[in-house]
Amino acid sequence: MRIYLIGFMGAGKSTLGPLLAKKLGYSCIETDVLVEKLAGISIPEIFSIYGENYFRELEKKVLHHTLLCNDTIVCTGGGTPCFFDNMEWMKMHGLTVYLSCDEAVIIHRIEMHQKIRPLFSDRNSTLKLLHARIPFYQKAHLHISNNDSLEKTIEAILQALPSK
Ligand code: S3P
Repeated sequence: MRIYLIGFMGAGKSTLGPLLAKKLGYSCIETDVLVEKLAGISIPEIFSIYGENYFRELEKKVLHHTLLCNDTIVCTGGGTPCFFDNMEWMKMHGLTVYLSCDEAVIIHRIEMHQKIRPLFSDRNSTLKLLHARIPFYQKAHLHISNNDSLEKTIEAILQALPSK
C-alpha cells in the first residue's frame, strides 16, 4: 500500500509521516525533499529564482515518481492536492489521508517552525489560503484531526486504515 499524507502547512505531515511509517514497517518520503533533490536547490530558492509554477511542475513530476514506491508513506506539500489533477491522481494510486488542524495550531506551528515557507507572508493571507484549499483536502479518503498528541493521531490513523 501507498499512503499520501495531505494537509496544510503546519498540519504535522512531516513529523507524523516517519512515526506512522515506523509503526507500519513502511518507508517514508517527502515530496518537498524529492523536489529539492531534483532541482539541486532549496524550495525557497526554486520559488524565488523560477517562480511557483515551476515548483508545481517539479512537484507533479516527483509525485508521479512515487508510483515506484510501495509500502510507503508519502508526505506531500501543503499545495500538492490543489494543482493539476494531483488529488485525483493520488486517490487513484494510494490511500489519501487528510491531516487537519485548528487554525490557531497551524499558525502557531508555521510561525514557530524554522522551515522557510515561501507561501507564508502573514496570518490573514495564510488563513485565506487554508480556506481556499480545504475543499481539495476534503476529497481525501480519510480525514484525521491532528490537534491531540501525535500518539493519538497515529492511533486514529491506524484504526481507520483498511485491513492492513
Ligand atoms: C507549500 C507547502 C510547503 C512546500 C512549499 C509550498 C504550499 O510544504 O511544498 O513551500 O503550497 O502550501 P509543507 O506543507 O510541508 O510546508
